[in-house]
Amino acid sequence: LDNGLGRTPPMGWNSWNRFNCTIDENLIKQTADALVDYGLRDIGYKYLNIDDCWMGERDEQGYIHASNITFPGGIKALADYTHSKGLLFGIYSDAGYRTCAGRIGSLGFEDVDAITYASWGIDYLKYDNCYNESIPERQRYEIMRDMLNGINCISTKRPIFYSICEWGVSQPFLWANEVGNSWRTTGDIHLGWESILDILQQQHKITQYAGPGGWNDPDMLQVGNGNLTIDEQKSHFSLWAALKAPLLLGFDIRYPPTDVLGIVNNTEIIAINQDPLGKSVNIAQSTKRMDVWTGELSDGYVALLFNKAETSITINLNFTAHLNVQGELSIRDLWEHEDKGAYNDSYSREVPKHGIVVLKLTGGTKIKEYPDFIDQ
Ligand code: DGJ
Repeated sequence: LDNGLGRTPPMGWNSWNRFNCTIDENLIKQTADALVDYGLRDIGYKYLNIDDCWMGERDEQGYIHASNITFPGGIKALADYTHSKGLLFGIYSDAGYRTCAGRIGSLGFEDVDAITYASWGIDYLKYDNCYNESIPERQRYEIMRDMLNGINCISTKRPIFYSICEWGVSQPFLWANEVGNSWRTTGDIHLGWESILDILQQQHKITQYAGPGGWNDPDMLQVGNGNLTIDEQKSHFSLWAALKAPLLLGFDIRYPPTDVLGIVNNTEIIAINQDPLGKSVNIAQSTKRMDVWTGELSDGYVALLFNKAETSITINLNFTAHLNVQGELSIRDLWEHEDKGAYNDSYSREVPKHGIVVLKLTGGTKIKEYPDFIDQ
């Protein structure tokens, strides 16, 4: 969406994966503090987004209010607090008459809600798809876009990142680039390795649709929520970053485990996500046991050697077959933070079970535009 936002994928935190409906204003304020105190804001995690369940009731004029039990201070005060911390504030609603958790939705109230959000100082809207009366997705999501943009209503004149959450049901990659700044490509992520693999294997067909202003959204990060090994969390984080997914943390960052912080504050991986070229990686080779994902950066190439097998294996990166590059390439390992030297033709690494090696490569000469997909 050409609203000036999302020129690189959004980064921040969202309440859903860890807290579901059990959110309140203290949690959100403490999370704002934590984003600053643990240095996450300063490496790019700027959006503090509340998900479902903040709503109370509509008043007689139709204006929505926050729950006076969990958010007694109201959303504006919370947004002000968040802004005072140098962060941006995001909210959630639904393009249906109720949210998925059964709270009040925005269908039929898009104009008052857009005006309300702008008056509260909202910077990001995640817009869900429950209770939608079977009205086509595109139609419902366009109405809110137009209201946020100030068309057909009193102009809100506030740029609001617009996150389309229709779970990939109506092929949003074909239309959502004109409607929102990101669009979910799949159903919800669950806290488990199978879910991450399942979402991942639905991404390679649509990578070309991601770019500055509009991103594929394979759902929010589960890093830090338990149930995944450190290698699995590194793989999840690296793949999402290289797919140019929104990097929305979903764990309790008020009490961050050191090993988890060590993953999400890898600024070399974040730089892949935030590269100004904004091109997603794609699959260059995929077998049952491993994937090689590669892509272009504004200043080189990135390659991910991903081990899906149950034992450690050696994965080979072939410069012509996987990258379409010939000549000598200098290689840097973005998890070891180490230059590995210059190589011709290929480079191999042992990769632990469910783990990943992420390489940045510079030099060489491009052979042709897109690598051929090697299917085995
Ligand atoms: C479904 C969405 O896909 C989730 O990310 C979350 O927002 C829930 N709804 C909230 O009810």
